[in-house]
Amino acid sequence: MDLKKLFGFEGKTVVITGAASGMSRSATELLIELGANVYAIDINSIDLPVKKAYQADLSNKEEIDKVIDNLPLKIDALFLCHGIAAFPGNELLVQKVNFYSQKYMTEKLLDRIVEHGSVTYISSVGGFGWQQVYQSAVELINIPTWDEAMDWYDNHSDLIKSAYVFAKQCLLSYVTYKCMSKEFISKKIRINAINPGDTTTGLTDDFNKSTSPNGDALEGAKMIENIFLKSWNGYAAEPKDMGYPMVVVGSDICSYMSGQLIYIDYGLASSWTSQALLNKNEKSIEEISHDANH
Ligand SMILES: NC(=O)c1ccc[n+]([C@@H]2O[C@H](COP(=O)([O-])OP(=O)(O)OC[C@H]3O[C@@H](n4cnc5c(N)ncnc54)[C@H](O)[C@@H]3O)[C@@H](O)[C@H]2O)c1
Repeated sequence: MDLKKLFGFEGKTVVITGAASGMSRSATELLIELGANVYAIDINSIDLPVKKAYQADLSNKEEIDKVIDNLPLKIDALFLCHGIAAFPGNELLVQKVNFYSQKYMTEKLLDRIVEHGSVTYISSVGGFGWQQVYQSAVELINIPTWDEAMDWYDNHSDLIKSAYVFAKQCLLSYVTYKCMSKEFISKKIRINAINPGDTTTGLTDDFNKSTSPNGDALEGAKMIENIFLKSWNGYAAEPKDMGYPMVVVGSDICSYMSGQLIYIDYGLASSWTSQALLNKNEKSIEEISHDANH
């Protein structure tokens, strides 16, 4: 069996964001190896042998529009992976980078995605408990324009206070809400998200600092270890532990898979679900996800 053929990326057009670093960089390396023509976008420069690299700030609508004007007219697979950590004061920026730009790009590019094409996002275990905000997320998803969505955020400062969590929850809600919607299903476009656990990447230092109430990276690292690793005597993942499975999800190997929120966390989120269902520690999913995200 020809493994390259099995993936189906040979000669195909793939657009990927966040490719300068971390998980998306690993995914891009694999996509190149599999013979894809990769169009990669990042705010930083991308030093991989892609077909074309674009440097753009994807929190900015005008910059997104400019990149979109220059992307191919036919796209086989879209991977939306760019992301940042949340700090006090950047709540709206986190919504734009980690969710809204991803929704905006998906919808702007949907007409160019071929039948049986795929859209794959990187959400997070931080989005665990997304069901709690689903109604609000769907309200936001249905707002037709960028500017109106920004007004919505202005009026929902309570929700975006948990900036990283809410943005990732919106992404998971988006996949769930849209997978069978006419615009995706009429062309059999698959839409999925991976939910990475703790992974050592370009974001690690920011995550450490943002987790500590005092912005202390060492203290934050300890807290992250306690939340994500201690219960299973675990270790942080490497970028390829996320980037490679994401490529598989967007490939022909997963040709019948859509609407899936795939936790790549050694089972941690499943164990949280189990604890909540058994009510072992008398905590609800809400409380567990609150603990996990703060
Ligand atoms: N590292 C983790 O533990 C972890 C866990 C769960 C989810 N994630 C998610 O994984 C995704 C990939 O992040 P990573 O951990 O590989 O970190 P990373 O910093 O190595 O990669 C993120 C990339 O996004 C780019 N980016 C950030 N803001 C941008 C903007 N405004 N416009 C364009 N590009 C921008 C960065 O330049 C970087 O290349 C993110 O969405 C992150 O939220 C990370």
